[in-house]
Amino acid sequence: MSWQRTCASAAETEAAGEALATLLRAGDIVLLSGQLGAGKTTFVKGVARGLGVIERVTSPTFTLVRPHQGQNDQGITTLLHADVYRVESLAEVLDLALGELVEEAAVALVEWGDLASSIFGREVLTIQFKIDEFEVRWLDVGGQLAQRRSGELDRWSAQ
Ligand SMILES: Nc1ncnc2c1ncn2[C@@H]1O[C@H](COP(=O)(O)OP(=O)(O)OP(=O)(O)O)[C@@H](O)[C@H]1O
Ligand SMILES: [Mg+2]
Repeated sequence: MSWQRTCASAAETEAAGEALATLLRAGDIVLLSGQLGAGKTTFVKGVARGLGVIERVTSPTFTLVRPHQGQNDQGITTLLHADVYRVESLAEVLDLALGELVEEAAVALVEWGDLASSIFGREVLTIQFKIDEFEVRWLDVGGQLAQRRSGELDRWSAQ
């Protein structure tokens, strides 16, 4: 099963991320996929806001992963924002050790995560971004982890 939400503006994409933040728990890994400019970073900015991150979130393309400290009721201390678009091998993604890092009260959001999905040896949440002919973004949330948050995702997609 998967959950959809449409975003007609960048502000709406951000709001979708902010709302999704409420259903995240420490240890979660979220893989974001979709063409260049689909809205992945915009969505992460919203998640960051939802997790009480104060510093500005920008694309981590050249650093691969950027940690952001946050403050929230869920006890998630760190948002790890990764972008694996430019990695040349899966070994590089393995080296990031995101699976271990999230154990320490963090969550990881990985842009282009679908390119490396085979290395995340755990249940993940996946979000696919599509752009239609009116520039509207269509978000589709799935993955095994999503099935376990179905009640919360029902509310998320209905907002
Ligand atoms: N729903 C939307 N409607 C219109 N524009 C949007 C929407 N969501 C995001 N944008 C805009 O699209 C542009 C690209 O967004 P963003 O950088 O988030 O994409 P991305 O998927 O992270 O791209 P990349 O693959 O290059 O990392 C930004 O200018 C952003 O404001
Ligand atoms: Mg991006």
